[in-house]
Order: sequence, then C-alpha cells, then structure tokens
Amino acid sequence: MQNLIILTLLKNNVECIEAILSRRSIRKLAEINIDRGTVELLLRAAASAPSAHNLQPWEFIAVDDRRIIESLAAILRSEYIKSGMADEIKAERTYSVIRSASLIIIGFLNLARLRDASPLEKTLGIQSLAAAAENILLAAHCLGLAAHWRAVPLARPDIFRTLFNVPDSVEPQWMIVIGAPAGKPRDKPVRSDVFHFNQW
Ligand SMILES: Cc1cc2nc3c(=O)[nH]c(=O)nc-3n(C[C@H](O)[C@H](O)[C@H](O)COP(=O)(O)O)c2cc1C
Repeated sequence: MQNLIILTLLKNNVECIEAILSRRSIRKLAEINIDRGTVELLLRAAASAPSAHNLQPWEFIAVDDRRIIESLAAILRSEYIKSGMADEIKAERTYSVIRSASLIIIGFLNLARLRDASPLEKTLGIQSLAAAAENILLAAHCLGLAAHWRAVPLARPDIFRTLFNVPDSVEPQWMIVIGAPAGKPRDKPVRSDVFHFNQW
C-alpha cells in the first residue's frame, strides 16, 4: 500500500524530481535576453524558500544591466590579482565567466530582520539564504537556463557593498550567475555513502 502511494506520487511529480536530480552547475554561458518577467519569477522562487521562523531575512539584487555586469567582472579580476586571491590566469577565467552572464542575482542577509544577534540566529539566517540560492538554481534549470553559485560576495563583501551601495545591516552572501547554456556540466557522481538510516 505504501509503495503504491510512493509510486503514484512519483508519477505525478516526475518532472519536479527529474529537475532536482539533473540540476548541475554550468559555467559556460551564452548571452540571452532574460525578460523582466523571468527575472521576477527567479526572484519569487528565491523568496519562496523556507526560512527560520519564517523571517525571510533576505534581500536580492538582480543585475541585468550589461555595463554593471562588465564592471563587476572587471573589478573582481583586478581585485583577485591585487589581493593574491588568484593568479592572472585564474582571475582572467573568472572575469570571462562573470562577464558572459546575462543575469546575476546577489543574495544578502538582512541582519536587522533576524530574531536576535546570537550566532545561532545568524546561522539560521545564512541557512535560509542558502535555501533561497538553491531555489534560484532549480528554477533557472527548470526554465532551461544555465546557472551556478559563486561565493565571492561572502569572501569579498567590500566589493559588493561599494558597487551596490549596500547598507551595513545587510551582508552579501552569494551570487548566482545565469545565462544560456553553452557547455555541458561536469560529470558528478552523487555520493550515497552519506545516507544513514535510523542511526549512524
Ligand atoms: C556554498 C557554495 C559555494 C560555492 N561557490 C562557488 C564558487 O565560488 N565558484 C564556483 O564556480 N562554484 C561555486 N559553487 C558551486 C559548486 O562548485 C558546485 O555546486 C559543486 O561543484 C557541485 O557541482 P554541481 O552544482 O554541478 O552539482 C558553490 C556551491 C556552494 C553550495
């Protein structure tokens, strides 16, 4: 009986499950015009994520202005080299990936919206932001777009604060780089040795 229920659920939601299982990071991007309705859909996907205490402690900046994308890519290239975060080859590679984006969505944690200033609540906020990021990746994948996550807003919040006039109470967390797929994702064997049932 239980197996029957699971099979029925799977049959009805096969596309949803397939989307989750087939999502991969794609870093080779071609230009595509992503209309405002699609951008808003991706933002709504992000804002529909679960969040601790349902505080929805996020803020998002969607960047589809080519000049801003270009200048973000150029700033990251020169900062990577200046700070020693990357050599010239790696900085150039990052630059060309980021400038090839048609849309970049940056996620921020709004500290003022957390329940209190404790480390626990901050971690819950960061986890909520991660759930929002995954929702964007999945929604982009469902729409046939290519996307991947970049941690640089967390590593170099100063760059994002300055470029986007971000207030002090808001912390850059991640950016999702989006375009049309121009390459295949890397093959990724999914680990199954991490599944535990009923106890470790
Ligand atoms: C917290 C987090 C940070 C990441 N940071 C970066 C990053 O800075 N640059 C990058 O190219 N990919 C980044 N990724 C993407 C991972 O490299 C990628 O998800 C992983 O290799 C698995 O590949 P898949 O997304 O195709 O399943 C990040 C992913 C997560 C969850």
